[in-house]
Amino acid sequence: MTELTTVVYDASEIVVGPGESETLERHADAALAVVDGRVAAVGPTDAVTDEYPPGTATHAIDADGRSVIPGFVDSHTHGLFAGDRSDEFAAKLRGKEYQEILAEGGGILRTVRAVREASDERLRSNLLGHLDTMLAHGTTTVEVKSGYGLDAETECRMLDAIRRADEAHPVDVVPTFMGAHAVPDGTDAEAYTERVIDEQLPAVADQGIAEFCDVFCEEDVFSVAQSRRVLEAGMEYGLTPKVHAEEFVRLGGAGLAADVDAASADHLLHANDEDRAALVEAGVTPVLLPGTAFSLGADYADARAFLDEGGSVAVATDFNPNCHSGSMGFAIALACVGMGMTPAEALLAGTHGGARALNRAGRGGTLREGMPADVAIVDAPSHVHVPYNFGVNTVETVLKNGEPVSGTEGNHE
Ligand code: NIG
Ligand code: FE
Repeated sequence: MTELTTVVYDASEIVVGPGESETLERHADAALAVVDGRVAAVGPTDAVTDEYPPGTATHAIDADGRSVIPGFVDSHTHGLFAGDRSDEFAAKLRGKEYQEILAEGGGILRTVRAVREASDERLRSNLLGHLDTMLAHGTTTVEVKSGYGLDAETECRMLDAIRRADEAHPVDVVPTFMGAHAVPDGTDAEAYTERVIDEQLPAVADQGIAEFCDVFCEEDVFSVAQSRRVLEAGMEYGLTPKVHAEEFVRLGGAGLAADVDAASADHLLHANDEDRAALVEAGVTPVLLPGTAFSLGADYADARAFLDEGGSVAVATDFNPNCHSGSMGFAIALACVGMGMTPAEALLAGTHGGARALNRAGRGGTLREGMPADVAIVDAPSHVHVPYNFGVNTVETVLKNGEPVSGTEGNHE
């Protein structure tokens, strides 16, 4: 039996997704009806409510003066971690380099120590807390990477915590294995690459949780050749590649991503024209992470050059202990102010672009009829207010599959 779950009506604006003639397909004075968790109709309020009267819906939401947008798809986070690295933020402000901190055993390696010491329950509850914040800021799907275990047992524990948090929380969590995130103490990149391939990947494949395999292809971390070996081994187990590419230097990760047909190449602060052309040609989604550049005090990725190349980009938070914000609204504001994207381009990059980076285009990231009704209702009259109100959460209500949601089901303390 079909159920009219929710009708949102009288919205100032509903953003549907990418438009054909203009950047955005959107309706003014609009309504949206949800049947069985999916968008059944979207358009002018009169037309939608004639067919789907709010009075017969389980939830009728008067969105007068508000705008309605697709829930954010945050396609790059390291949102499961333990410990506190706020002192490194302060040290970086005094001029210390990110890679210097890592070379001294801080940074990622410090979080690895904290994660190895944390109980399974602590890992799960830390992630649930972060998911609550993300949901309150309008995120309905988020990718979360492992990569703070750096051994088979802890990488699998992280992926298991990600799976259990996904089951307990309304936000959809997409799991990525990232054993090749840093080289642990007591070994070198070459020997550790073999361990990722021979010990971690078989265990992760056996566990059956991870969907993607990511590597930190970077000077003094993993070379292009080592990254390629990890990604190709992951592909043998059915894991789709992703690459942290050209973040601190231009090493060749973007070319590698194009070569192995990765779902995305991420960061790209130092990508050049050749890299951009290769990614667009191969259909790899560039994931731009302006929060990382902001928190490192680095130059932003050249979003305009990607858009001019004809590619569609994703914008994500990169939420992690080095970039401590899970707010997609803030990432979108930075995409506008720091990378020169229009509010419409940035909003699409944080919704439809994110879905593309997670191989979910056609399954999410828009409010087209038939799509899951993952919706953020913004307490402002247009989508432009999302970046315009930087540093302020404009999201008032979130629907997941048409149901109003907030936070974890049950106690996760
Ligand atoms: O995407 N660049 C590598 N990994 C993360 C940082 C992780 C951390 O510092 O804990 C990133 O920015
Ligand atoms: Fe990252």
